[in-house]
Amino acid sequence: MARKVHIFDTTLRDGEQVPGAKLNKRQKLEIAEQLAKLNVDVIEAGFPCSSPGDLEAVREISRQVRGPIIAALARTVKEDIDIAWEAVKEAERPRIHVFVGSSDIHIQKKLRSDREKTLEMAVDAVRHAKSLCPDVEFSTEDGSRTEFEFLCRIIEETIRAGAGVINVPDTVGYALPEEYGDLIYRLRQRVVSMERVLLSVHCHNDLGLAVANSMAAIRNGADQVECTINGIGERAGNASLEEIVMVLKTRAESYQATTGIDFKEIYRTSRMVSRIMNVPVQPNKAIVGSNAFSHSSGVHQDGVLKDRTTYEIMKPEELGIRQQTLVLTARSGRSALRHKLAELGYSLDSETFQRIYNRFIDVADRKKEITAQDLQTIVEIEVSKVFETYKLHSLQIMSGNKMVPLASITLEKDGELHTDAATGNGPVDAVFKGIERITGITGKLCDYDLKAVTTGTDALGEAMVRVEIGDAIYSGIGTSPDVIEATARAYLNAYNRYFANGGAEKV
Ligand code: KIV
Ligand code: ZN
Repeated sequence: MARKVHIFDTTLRDGEQVPGAKLNKRQKLEIAEQLAKLNVDVIEAGFPCSSPGDLEAVREISRQVRGPIIAALARTVKEDIDIAWEAVKEAERPRIHVFVGSSDIHIQKKLRSDREKTLEMAVDAVRHAKSLCPDVEFSTEDGSRTEFEFLCRIIEETIRAGAGVINVPDTVGYALPEEYGDLIYRLRQRVVSMERVLLSVHCHNDLGLAVANSMAAIRNGADQVECTINGIGERAGNASLEEIVMVLKTRAESYQATTGIDFKEIYRTSRMVSRIMNVPVQPNKAIVGSNAFSHSSGVHQDGVLKDRTTYEIMKPEELGIRQQTLVLTARSGRSALRHKLAELGYSLDSETFQRIYNRFIDVADRKKEITAQDLQTIVEIEVSKVFETYKLHSLQIMSGNKMVPLASITLEKDGELHTDAATGNGPVDAVFKGIERITGITGKLCDYDLKAVTTGTDALGEAMVRVEIGDAIYSGIGTSPDVIEATARAYLNAYNRYFANGGAEKV
């Protein structure tokens, strides 16, 4: 009989530590709701003591999201634990997740302490957390580099103090699969009380081994695996959720373990996280990359046309990836659009539907055929839009290899049109400068990514930007069949986020 491996998603905590990917309450809630649809077992919603905003976001997720356990991270400090409890206490199933560095490197160099004091702190913290919350997880940070005898001791003592989940992270992505699997095996053999708790693993990807290490741990008895959507996370990231669950599904005979994941929500979740956190997915990323199911060599295409199993080990539609079917044209009416949206799984209120319809007509006027992927992109962007202080009304570009590019832009604000023009090093630069002139706010472009949503010369372009305004970074996304317009929309989206966040406007 296959055993169940619990999926602990930490996209909203470890994943959010990516520079520039900081989320606001609304964005965190949107992702948490999607993670619940994906049917993860645990959502680590944040680190509430890190900021009042994070506390609020975790509290809101706890109030609204039903299904998964909602966990909040805390150091072994009473105040952290109290704040974490404040954040999750209204959840259907709350969890406090306490961690402390347990390797000598962490104890001596970071905590400037010793093993005995660290042990005492961990036990006190778990006991305190347990007095507040029935479900407590304890993590031995840098567990894979922790001396084995001490690791066993700290685990035994924290189980005695009330921890119901013990997590042994490979914090710096240093472990090798056979080594990490062996560690999990030895811990299970050695710590008798481990039978009463869940043993969890948490791998980072510094050597590109996060998923391999997680799989080795599962094979050696790990009950819970901590991971993120798209493998997003600090430095080289965390183990990727979609890769782990698809290995377990595709090679079921090898692992004899299942998850509760609703596979058809994988692609939608991946897109949403990429868009909201503004971290593009590399095209060759396993499972969710844009090339993961496209076959370019003639031999492969021939094989797939004859029988898909020749070169495909998974079915893209099982992951919610839709083929590029023709969906609609500019002549399709409202009811055809509504019907297609329902087929794609969207049920929208009438105001949102109207916005999507307007945008659909705008794009369809310029692009002959709107595919399922185009439509999905339009909906995703419209649904998550912030209040638009400035709307793009029109844009004109003059550019060439022998002239200084010039952008003339008209933005709408409170029903009034504001027009200005700017030159730049290129058309994109000219557009950015034009937007800055109208809004009176100067931003610094930190990241810019442009890709085609579908194939063909009239493909819908999707631009993602990260703009530093003041002391914060705002992300923006925009689409259009015209890549410069997509870029202008993305830049404006970032500016509108800044305004929605209380940024000052030109008077
Ligand atoms: O990588 C790590 O060790 C962590 C812990 C806080 C669980 O993220
Ligand atoms: Zn981590």
